Amino acid sequence: MRIGVLTGGGDCPGLNAVIRAVVRKGVKEYGYEFVGFRDGWKGPLEGLTMELTLATTRGILPRGGTILGSSRTNPFKIENGVEKIKENLAKAGIDALIAIGGEDTLGVATKLDALGVKVIGVPKTIDNDLNNTDYTFGFDTSVNIAMEAIDRLHTTAESHHRALVVEVMGRHAGWIALHSGIAGGAACILIPEVKFSVDKVCEWVESRFKSGFAPIIVIAEGAIPQDGDMQTKDQTLDAFGHVKLSGIGEWLSAQIEAKTGKEARTSVLGHIQRGGTPSAFDRVLATRFGLHAITAVHEGDFGKMVALHGTTIARVPLASATEKLKTVPVEMYKESEIFFG
Ligand code: F6P
Repeated sequence: MRIGVLTGGGDCPGLNAVIRAVVRKGVKEYGYEFVGFRDGWKGPLEGLTMELTLATTRGILPRGGTILGSSRTNPFKIENGVEKIKENLAKAGIDALIAIGGEDTLGVATKLDALGVKVIGVPKTIDNDLNNTDYTFGFDTSVNIAMEAIDRLHTTAESHHRALVVEVMGRHAGWIALHSGIAGGAACILIPEVKFSVDKVCEWVESRFKSGFAPIIVIAEGAIPQDGDMQTKDQTLDAFGHVKLSGIGEWLSAQIEAKTGKEARTSVLGHIQRGGTPSAFDRVLATRFGLHAITAVHEGDFGKMVALHGTTIARVPLASATEKLKTVPVEMYKESEIFFG
């Protein structure tokens, strides 16, 4: 069989570990050939390919990003997009496709599966917001990056007796903020799932200063104040209708300074959270996802996504991964409130 592989959506550390595992097992155990499609769904749409062999996937385990490239191309927004994809898959002699991506990439895969394309999904996103999998790879690395930044910000905040607001990614789910805030000893954690009170944040800020330490406030880019709105960079939308979130951290800093008289600064971690080498957890999870994805192809179990359930790699219907966003349960968020202030 000839198998196509693509990586779509926001990149993250671990993508290359998936590719390496898929190719290694596919070639050595099943005798398969592989074709790499470039830049997400743009690859099948425009017939953009690259060689994917044991040789071209050696040494990529620790490398961040994706050797295939990625994009936020939505074929369902392109005229005759599905037909073009089917033609290019046939032209390349592709028997099945492995799509590695988040809600947008796997949403496209789900639709293509329903239209007869043989596809297996692999869940990827630093946001950890895909349904029906306990974790996605990329998440652990981004939490560690954010935690290391928070550890560093504690010392400069304390030196200058400042409140430091750390804005982290996660779009409309607060998993990165919650985990990095707990791990980093934040004075409060603000997530999209729970609208926040600026006055309450200022109380926590004052309380942390009174304890002799400087407050670090970890806020998710999609967090929303009770008497305000989500902050976006502009009104543009990407091909999947997403806004560009940006600005809530600066907005909160200004509020803190105005209401408490204390100096406040903001650090927006942005794409640093998506860069560099994957953590050990992500390398192992991504590798296991890749091994099980190519086995699912071998068994003809299409229309499925590999998923982590506990410590087991399961196969779940692709549609279940994107039928809703996996957000932080409020009761889990409330566990951490004891540390606020
Ligand atoms: O989905 C992953 C993610 O990093 C989100 O956390 C973030 O809001 C978005 O992608 C940024 O998208 P882009 O890299 O296209 O600016």
